[in-house]
Amino acid sequence: MTAPLDSVTPESIERLQAEAIAEIQAAGSPEVIERLRSRYLGRRGLLRQASSALGAVPAEKRPLVGRALNEARRAIEEALRQKSAVRPPAPQEPPFDFTMPGRPRPRGGRHPITATIEAIRDIFARLGFEVAFGPEAELDYYNFEALNIPPDHPARDAFDTFFLETGALLRSQTSTVQIRVMEKRTPPIRVIAPGKVYRPDTVDATHSFLFHQIEGLAVEEGITMADLKYVLHEFARGFFGKDVRMRFRPSFFPFTEPSVEVDITCFACNGSGCALCKRAGWIEILGAGMVDPNVFEVVGYDPERYTGFAFGMGVERIAMLRHRIDDMRLFLENDLRFLGQF
Ligand code: DAH
Repeated sequence: MTAPLDSVTPESIERLQAEAIAEIQAAGSPEVIERLRSRYLGRRGLLRQASSALGAVPAEKRPLVGRALNEARRAIEEALRQKSAVRPPAPQEPPFDFTMPGRPRPRGGRHPITATIEAIRDIFARLGFEVAFGPEAELDYYNFEALNIPPDHPARDAFDTFFLETGALLRSQTSTVQIRVMEKRTPPIRVIAPGKVYRPDTVDATHSFLFHQIEGLAVEEGITMADLKYVLHEFARGFFGKDVRMRFRPSFFPFTEPSVEVDITCFACNGSGCALCKRAGWIEILGAGMVDPNVFEVVGYDPERYTGFAFGMGVERIAMLRHRIDDMRLFLENDLRFLGQF
C-alpha cells in the first residue's frame, strides 16, 4: 500500500519505508530482492515518484519531507544490502558414511624378473660378490673379441645380434661386463653383473630377442674349479632348496677353459624324474668355467699369477624353473593377472 503521491508527508514516506523493509526481509530469492530494488529504488521506483511530488509540497514542509525521503532511501538500501549478503544455504553435501569400505588402491610390486635378480644377488652378496653393470649398447670388442671370440669364430653365429649404425651392437651376453670390470680393477675381484641381453631369436615359449642374464666373475690368486663348484652349489641350495645336488658336464665357451654346463637335481621330483625335468631328474641352470688365460692377457692380468672362474645364467629361465612358469612371453606382456602373483 502506497501513499497517494499528491500528498507526500513524512508519515507517508515512513510508511513506504516500513513496507519496503518488511517486503525485503521477507524476500525468498535473489530474483525477488532485485524486483524490490527496482520497485523502490529504480528510475521509476516509488522513492523517485515521491521525490517528484516534492514540488507540490508546501515550502515550509519540504525540508522535513526531503529528510524523510533521504532516510527512507538509506534504510531501504541498507536493508537490500543486508539481505543480499545472506547467502542461501549451500546444497547439502551427501553425508559421509564412515562405515563404507574404502576404495582399494592397487599396490605396485616388483616385476618377477627384478625379484629374481634381487634374490640371486642377495645369495651372492653373502658369498662376497658385489654388483657391477655395463652398457647394453656395446662395442664388438667387449661382446666378442676380448672374450676370445675372433671375427670369424663360429661361436658368433648364435649371438649375431642387433647392430647400431654407430658400429655398436646390443650386447648378446653379460660376459661383456667381465672385461669392463677387469680393465678397471685389479684382483681380487668378485662381481655379479645382471642386465638385459639381446639375441636374433624368434619369440616363443622359451626364446626371446630380449632377456636377462646374470654374469659372475671371481679372480684371485689360487682360485680353482673347486671354488667354482662350491660357490655355485651354495647358490643352487640357497635359491632352489637345501637338498639340491649339482653336477658339472663338460662344455665349451670361448672365454673359459675348461668349460661346463651346470645341472641341479630336479627340485620338483628330487631327481627321480618328472614332467618338469622331462624325466631326466636333472635340470640345466647355467654355463660356467675357469677364465681362459687369453682373456686375462687381453686385460693385462698375468695368467701365471691369477686364476678365476666365471659363470652366466639366464634370469628368465631360472625364474621359470622356480615358479613353474611355462611361457617366457608372460614376462614381457605386462598382464597384471600374471605379474600380481609375485
Ligand atoms: N655368456 C654365456 C651365454 O650367453 C653364458 C656364460 C657361460 C657366461 C660361461 C660365462 C661362462 O661367464 O663362464 O651363453
